[in-house]
Amino acid sequence: MTDRPTDSGHGGGVYDWWSRHPRLLDAFYTVVFAGREASIRRRAVEALDLSPGDRVLELGSGPGNAFAELHDRVGNGGVVVGVDASAGMTQRATDRIRAHGWENVHAIRGDATRPPVIGQQFDAVYAAMSLSAMPHPVGGVTAAHDALRPGGQLAVLDAQPFQHWPMKLLNLVLVPLFRATTNWEPEANVPAAVRDRFVDVDVREFTDGTLFVASGRRADDAES
Ligand SMILES: C[S@@+](CC[C@H](N)C(=O)[O-])C[C@H]1O[C@@H](n2cnc3c(N)ncnc32)[C@H](O)[C@@H]1O
Repeated sequence: MTDRPTDSGHGGGVYDWWSRHPRLLDAFYTVVFAGREASIRRRAVEALDLSPGDRVLELGSGPGNAFAELHDRVGNGGVVVGVDASAGMTQRATDRIRAHGWENVHAIRGDATRPPVIGQQFDAVYAAMSLSAMPHPVGGVTAAHDALRPGGQLAVLDAQPFQHWPMKLLNLVLVPLFRATTNWEPEANVPAAVRDRFVDVDVREFTDGTLFVASGRRADDAES
């Protein structure tokens, strides 16, 4: 694996700012998750069906919010690798790793749509609130597929605009607001991209459809 720096064109600039305002980011998540952040995030990690010793790649890992949960599940015999475009977020993730003394958790700065990892080496790929913040969210789904061993598991937790009336009216304000403040790319149909590339796909919606967990398995060689 190599540490391949990226520029703000990969989404790093806005998130360098967020990395300096962690309390504001926490408050933002409290609103977006409608107070259910811990339980929805747990559901997303559970969809990976991790076992001790597994190797997990997290795309757009930010400050490493998921590292503790992922490390607990893979144990000291597993590996967790987080990739994020933002230097500030990668630094916060590195600080978290040092504070916990995790030797098998790594934070790498790079573009998650072209992750600096050798293909097909991971048992699981996780992406939380990150694919829709990338310029090419579907590219992140393809990168996840390519990084997984045959039979490996993907789980994506992400946000999408309101799906039902009358709440859909709020999209007129929220979509441009979140696009400007978080690089949100809500047009990308991530669940459809997961269905296209993976098997055994399951999509669950939360908070009136504005959050979803899409999970799937990379087909075994015999299935593809
Ligand atoms: C809303 S934050 C989510 C962080 C974390 N996964 C979480 O659940 O709290 C989105 C993250 O995606 C990262 N990101 C955006 N575009 C990226 C890209 N092309 N490659 C890697 N990371 C990217 C940002 O730097 C940011 O840390």
